[in-house]
Amino acid sequence: MNTQTIHAKQKPRILTGDTTTGRLHLGHWVGSLENRVQLQDQYDCYFLIANLHALTTRADRPAEVRQSAIDILLDYLSIGIDPQKSTILLQSEIPAIADLTFIFSMLLSFPRVMRNPTIKDEIRDKNLGENYPFGFLLYPVGQVADILAFRAELVPVGEDQIPHVEMTREVARRFNQLYCEQGNELFPIPEAKMGRAKRLVGLSGPDKNTGNLLKMSKSLNNAIFLSDDPDTVRKKIMSMYTDPNRLRPTDKGTVENNPLWIFHETFNPDQAWVAEAEDKYRNGQIGDVECKRKLIEVLVEFIEPIRQRRSVYENDIGQALDILKAGTERANVVADDTLQQVKKAMQQDYF
Ligand code: TRP
Repeated sequence: MNTQTIHAKQKPRILTGDTTTGRLHLGHWVGSLENRVQLQDQYDCYFLIANLHALTTRADRPAEVRQSAIDILLDYLSIGIDPQKSTILLQSEIPAIADLTFIFSMLLSFPRVMRNPTIKDEIRDKNLGENYPFGFLLYPVGQVADILAFRAELVPVGEDQIPHVEMTREVARRFNQLYCEQGNELFPIPEAKMGRAKRLVGLSGPDKNTGNLLKMSKSLNNAIFLSDDPDTVRKKIMSMYTDPNRLRPTDKGTVENNPLWIFHETFNPDQAWVAEAEDKYRNGQIGDVECKRKLIEVLVEFIEPIRQRRSVYENDIGQALDILKAGTERANVVADDTLQQVKKAMQQDYF
């Protein structure tokens, strides 16, 4: 059997992951998690807990990074990532990724890294000024290595990660061109896959400077987490931003760019109810409270099965860590193999 037929028998690989800067929320769900759960049968999936990347902004808060790694592991297991089918791995225990980061950093110019729009946005949004660590600029190259270590063909991510996948494609092409014979390229050129909603808005309304609705994010304190209990969901929805010009239920309301309706459109399975209620809202025939109550019901129903599964692992963290350990071991086999092939292609295999 030649390598072509062996390859044809394997499922194509997915690699994606999350930086350990907090628990996962509804924005992660529509941006990427939903796709991951659905694609587990068609692809050989690798889900990476990116604890090293969290150090770019939290080198002084190791306990937080550790807690978040465990939280994300529980999030993965509770949304239905099935360890029988998919591999969950811990970034810091995959040494080949660090080696590949160094090698790939030679294939990107410094201005190219600085041109990455996500890097620019992060420097602005996180108020990093000019004092971000050197490693902050290295993390997108690290992300290239995360993806290429698994020779992934598909990368399910939210909109903000697209520039990193674009950089990965460039590095893969450059590596293949520099070091591989035509027809015998080592790296597939990976595709990004975005979720059904490009980005989800948060609960807090528009940005004061731009007037645009802010995206859901832990750091903006405007998120509903996949682990929130019903009471927390209720409080968050009851105090969320809606149409600021609507003071009474009989006032005409605006549906467009209103988080209340964006959430209903995204999460309510009863879209007939949503269409009808939106119509009434526009005409001042339905109150905010009624629409919010309905939304609470919808979200609690969505989150409850996730919370149930989570509680099983919460009571047995050891079991969850065993899954992570086994996944990391499996992942190392693939990443080590990639590193060996990289060295061979670069004529740096001496012994
Ligand atoms: N940067 C991603 C985030 O913050 C996490 C991540 C790390 C990732 N490595 C990756 C995503 C590789 C996709 C592929 O969410």
